Amino acid sequence: MLGARPMLEADLPTVMAIEEQAYPHPWSRGIFEDCLRVKAYECLVYEDGNDLCAYSVMSWGAGEAHLLNLCVRPERQGQGLGRAVLEQVIQLARDKTASNLFLEVRLSNRAARHLYESAGFNEIGRRFDYYPAHNGREDALVFALPLL
Ligand SMILES: CC(C)(COP(=O)(O)OP(=O)(O)OC[C@H]1O[C@@H](n2cnc3c(N)ncnc32)[C@H](O)[C@@H]1OP(=O)(O)O)[C@@H](O)C(=O)NCCC(=O)NCCS
Repeated sequence: MLGARPMLEADLPTVMAIEEQAYPHPWSRGIFEDCLRVKAYECLVYEDGNDLCAYSVMSWGAGEAHLLNLCVRPERQGQGLGRAVLEQVIQLARDKTASNLFLEVRLSNRAARHLYESAGFNEIGRRFDYYPAHNGREDALVFALPLL
């Protein structure tokens, strides 16, 4: 059973260790610290017992929500945790009365694209050269889930 709670500064060493394993171009600790400081950001960690196995960062305001980070520890991927976390984020966005939940995903991120599409997100746009990549830059796909 996955329990969600607010991310604390004390979680950042664990969160950063996961972030650096899970992403080729990870966020810095400073980005997480900024997210924790801003009130309109919801930073959550998800625990299976004492095991911090996933986290999410969502911003909200002006009737819209934006999923900025969703990450499952690599050893725990492929066990349904990503889908469980996404369901909790969607519920959180509904609780904030957002009319849409937006996110960006790398074109090459097949697992994430499959997860979002199967959860009902629609591809609504593309940002060219949005992400740094090994050989230059990579496009982002913009997804939206209508919540109303
Ligand atoms: C994307 C991510 C969150 C998915 O989490 P997960 O716990 O592995 O996903 P789940 O086990 O809940 O699986 C969700 C769906 O994705 C599919 N999936 C998982 N890994 C996959 C892969 N490598 N390729 C294709 N599909 C994959 C699963 O089959 C499942 O679909 P199904 O229910 O139709 O079978 C996880 O891989 C991750 O943290 N990746 C690194 C960080 C990242 O890229 N985050 C997204 C940024 S936009």
